[in-house]
Amino acid sequence: MIIVLIGYMGSGKSTIGKELATALEYNFLDLDDYISDKEKRSVSEIFESKGEIYFRKKETEYLNEVLNSSENSVLALGGGTPCYGKNMDLIINNANVTSFYLKLSIPLLSKRLFTEREQRPLISHLNSETELLEFIGKHLFERNQYYSRSHITLNTDHKTKQDILEELVGHLV
Ligand code: S3P
Repeated sequence: MIIVLIGYMGSGKSTIGKELATALEYNFLDLDDYISDKEKRSVSEIFESKGEIYFRKKETEYLNEVLNSSENSVLALGGGTPCYGKNMDLIINNANVTSFYLKLSIPLLSKRLFTEREQRPLISHLNSETELLEFIGKHLFERNQYYSRSHITLNTDHKTKQDILEELVGHLV
């Protein structure tokens, strides 16, 4: 069984994913880290040296690889993974996969991402919280249609990590 965590940058996919994996005694995989390991450079470096199109090609290739593994895993995707090629079809149509959209509101995402934007090539150029808020608003409007195809959507606003974990586990039993 593979549990796939979907959501915008900063929505808690990796943080929650690690804890969920520990609770279930599953393997934890972060697709960005997997790509970095395979490509031997950080996501920012890949964007800089090879460009986004190359990154998206590799992202689909490694997503396929991970979805075809037979280990019990929790997989945290990158924020853009569901929105390119047939990635969302691969996830939805795989009988071994349960996918969750961790849905956080725009103001909370913006607040969280403002201090962390340096490591994220798509938002590192935004200089104020207002600019970031506007960017996320538009971006999420485009991306929601992909994220919403997840098997289960969890609203995570103002919930603790423990609340979210309990909800996730509740859906799996
Ligand atoms: C991206 C999100 C990032 C990473 C890359 C592109 C996106 O992952 O894959 O910078 O398109 O939203 P996180 O969601 O883990 O930050």
